[in-house]
Amino acid sequence: MYTQGLDTHGKEPLPTAAEGEARAARFQGRIDAEEKIEPKDWMPEAYRQTLIRQISQHAHSEIVGMLPEGNWITRAPTLKRKAVLIAKVQDEGGHGMYLYSAAETLGIPRAQMLVQLLSGAAKYSSIFNYPTLTWADIGAIGWLVDGAAIMNQIPLCRCSYGPYARAMVRICKEESFHQRQGFEIMLTLSQGSHAQRAMAQDALNRWWWPSLMMFGPSDADSMHTGQSMRWKIKRFSNDELRQRFIDVTVPQAHFLGLTIPDDELHWDEATQHYRAGPIDWSEFYAVLKGNGPCNRERLEARRRAHEAGRWVREAAAAHAQRSQRAAPPVAGVAGVAGAAGAAA
Ligand SMILES: [Fe+2]
Ligand SMILES: [Fe+2]
Repeated sequence: MYTQGLDTHGKEPLPTAAEGEARAARFQGRIDAEEKIEPKDWMPEAYRQTLIRQISQHAHSEIVGMLPEGNWITRAPTLKRKAVLIAKVQDEGGHGMYLYSAAETLGIPRAQMLVQLLSGAAKYSSIFNYPTLTWADIGAIGWLVDGAAIMNQIPLCRCSYGPYARAMVRICKEESFHQRQGFEIMLTLSQGSHAQRAMAQDALNRWWWPSLMMFGPSDADSMHTGQSMRWKIKRFSNDELRQRFIDVTVPQAHFLGLTIPDDELHWDEATQHYRAGPIDWSEFYAVLKGNGPCNRERLEARRRAHEAGRWVREAAAAHAQRSQRAAPPVAGVAGVAGAAGAAA
């Protein structure tokens, strides 16, 4: 339905300058009034493109994020842990699907987004380019990576674009289960043997800084923050969200009896916040440019999976076409059924 609605996008007669300004002002007025923008509503092209970029990157992050954890499904220490991890990894695949669907409502086909991912043109979260070396990494990912994702994503439930906001409500519920399962793994390890505690500490050492980088560059260096906040796509700046994550997570590390790997981290009585040491942004940008420990491996795995799934996509498309041809026209709506078939 959305695809049909968007077929005229870009073909509308050009408005005069005055009409264009009035339309842009009405749009901003709706945003300021906290109205949701829906797929068929008029929107500035830059708003559409910003959302396509953000939602598709988010979708890519979900499905690439399945890889580091999928690495431990066959090696989970118990049947229960294995079942939980499978459920979590499946959730991430589902998140990717909701988000690709939300992006499609903006007029970009899913196949095009996948080409962008597999060609290396699209970005995804830098965190998934780090390896999962031990079982404790699965705990650290749930606790820190899903924890950071929740911090980022809860405000997105109030994003001005309706389909994205609604997808995020369900995603956030599932992310909170992910965070708890990760923390519970860390709790078990931190109460275990000396070797298990050391494994938990080692995982924290390796995942702490990349988790802080998940919030993106500092506000001063963030290209998109100002406009995204005016459009209410974003509600808080990168640094604000990072600070919230630090404030919530440091006491959890204390509870686990683990040490945050930051010599400069301290409680600031005046501001009532934990103050972290400086982030090594050169690492962040190197990973983003494709030079993280696992960038090539991740894209290669996605390309292999895409190729291996080709026959499924082709069979599903052929089945859909055949069903469409075989379906008898419903009395009175034959024209509508024909139009839907033509757009499929
Ligand atoms: Fe997710
Ligand atoms: Fe998750």
